[in-house]
Amino acid sequence: MAPSRPVVLITGGSNGIGLVTCDHLASKGTFQILLGTRSPEKGEKAVSEIKSKYPGSTISSLQIDITSDDSIAAAFKHVESTYGKLDALVNNAGICPTEFSRSILRETLETNVTSHAAVTETFAPLLSKSSSPRVLYVSSELGSITLRSDPKSRARDEEYKAYRISKAALNMLVACDAWEHSDYKVFGYCPGYVITDLAGMREEKIKQGFAQQPDGSARGIAAIVEGKRDAEAGKFLHGEEEGEVHPW
Ligand SMILES: NC(=O)c1ccc[n+]([C@@H]2O[C@H](COP(=O)([O-])OP(=O)(O)OC[C@H]3O[C@@H](n4cnc5c(N)ncnc54)[C@H](OP(=O)(O)O)[C@@H]3O)[C@@H](O)[C@H]2O)c1
Repeated sequence: MAPSRPVVLITGGSNGIGLVTCDHLASKGTFQILLGTRSPEKGEKAVSEIKSKYPGSTISSLQIDITSDDSIAAAFKHVESTYGKLDALVNNAGICPTEFSRSILRETLETNVTSHAAVTETFAPLLSKSSSPRVLYVSSELGSITLRSDPKSRARDEEYKAYRISKAALNMLVACDAWEHSDYKVFGYCPGYVITDLAGMREEKIKQGFAQQPDGSARGIAAIVEGKRDAEAGKFLHGEEEGEVHPW
């Protein structure tokens, strides 16, 4: 039952950084990629576009809404019965509201933190079937308390309070999982400031001129999935090279 290719699940895989990461991993032809998506239609469209670019790739769409326990459980059952293991879990899905209120903070924490913790917990039995399990949480330098407080940091003067709080909490989840799971390699990863639909800022980022396309983020995530940064497990990484580490 277990496939020879390492099995990788990327949540939020049908848009933005997740989609470009699936595309990049598919270009390598060495992974069984599960493109996690809330929308089966969007997922199937993404998969068929990627397959037509890389005919040798093995990629399929997997419906998973990370805020729904039923959806997570159904995704788990499918991966268990089809592949029997999971080698890498990329917890990438996320939201970034621009406003702040009690309900917005609650919703942001639910999506960006609680749901990732639930996905990792649910998939733990399949991760433990892998010979080298890796769990990656896509965080943000905006979640760094050190950078928020540093007058020299570009990240100091951005707003996004609910998002910042959620990513700081996510960073603690990275540290807790790294401590708890000596059997996994656990990573936090900041993909940089890249042009996607996050916070509805696509046009604004293009106008600003310094946001990047997400290709570098995809290469950075792939490097971790491939084990190239295992020596830095338990840290809050960025970039593509060893030594690129953010402060918590
Ligand atoms: N872009 C940046 O500059 C930047 C910087 C630092 C960190 N990040 C982080 O990078 C990650 C990806 O963001 P992005 O920039 O690629 O944004 P994006 O284009 O808005 O993509 C976000 C993805 O998350 C999915 N998602 C949201 N809620 C979900 C849920 N409940 N269940 C399953 N999937 C859900 C979305 O699904 P739908 O397609 O169905 O909406 C979408 O695929 C996020 O964690 C974000 O915080 C981004």
